[in-house]
Amino acid sequence: MQISGNTVFIPGATSGIGLALALALRDRGNTVVVGGRRTELLERIAAEHPGLGTVRIDTADPASIETAAEDVLARYPELDVLVAMAGIMRAEDWHRPEGFLETAEATVTTNVLGPIRLIAAFVEHLQTRPEATIMTVSSGLAFTPLKVTPTYNASKAAIHMLSESIRLQLADTAVRVVELEPPAVRTALMPGHEDNEHAMPLDEFVAEVMGLIESRPDAAEIQVERVKFLRYGEARGDYDQVVAALNAADPHNS
Ligand SMILES: NC(=O)c1ccc[n+]([C@@H]2O[C@H](COP(=O)([O-])OP(=O)(O)OC[C@H]3O[C@@H](n4cnc5c(N)ncnc54)[C@H](OP(=O)(O)O)[C@@H]3O)[C@@H](O)[C@H]2O)c1
Repeated sequence: MQISGNTVFIPGATSGIGLALALALRDRGNTVVVGGRRTELLERIAAEHPGLGTVRIDTADPASIETAAEDVLARYPELDVLVAMAGIMRAEDWHRPEGFLETAEATVTTNVLGPIRLIAAFVEHLQTRPEATIMTVSSGLAFTPLKVTPTYNASKAAIHMLSESIRLQLADTAVRVVELEPPAVRTALMPGHEDNEHAMPLDEFVAEVMGLIESRPDAAEIQVERVKFLRYGEARGDYDQVVAALNAADPHNS
């Protein structure tokens, strides 16, 4: 995607990577609409950043996705970028169902069904635009498992393969599918994660992402240097060592 001149909707941008990316894209001359469930944050964002649009959306709820999509497309008919950012990450204990089943179902609903339903709500509109982008958000954990978050890892692996697959199908359109693959980044995704010294500072991550979008607008995957350790273990042949190193480090290292 081009670095500027787009109209971008980012459901999952009331905090963290989504909000930082929204502000960076706004600063580079894009029209940006942020979405999320926490209305108090949406109100604060609208007050602090008058140029940003806001919309309440719960991506775990199909009806909310439909209503928000209608609202966004009515207000921003020139929308040409969808960033499916919303995600949750929770620890699980798979020794007994109480330790994981509820969390696993919630994680699949938000992290896998959410992006699928969002793409369903926007894909026809995006094909009416001269150029458009669907940005999915996976993780280094799509490629190397963190022991404490099995369903999260699996949800991000699903997003990776979904991105690879729909890119093939949409190759006959002007819609590009771009997968953002963050390493561990200091956000509130999990308790304590904002102070995780193994994680990348948020501003550094977003600055590197913006540089990559600018220098390689046609890239299918956005990979900052820090994610390559997790992303390419299997290709390098050191996968077992990468799994061991990841899981020996901070248990919240995403
Ligand atoms: N930080 C990392 O280390 C890391 C690494 C790899 C990938 N990622 C991915 O990056 C994305 C953003 O995470 P983050 O690190 O920036 O964490 P974050 O600060 O917790 O942000 C998560 C965002 O998702 C939104 N969200 C969650 N559930 C939602 C729902 N049902 N409906 C609508 N919005 C929802 C939250 O908004 P509301 O609560 O207001 O709804 C929030 O804006 C996630 O997909 C995450 O898996 C993060």
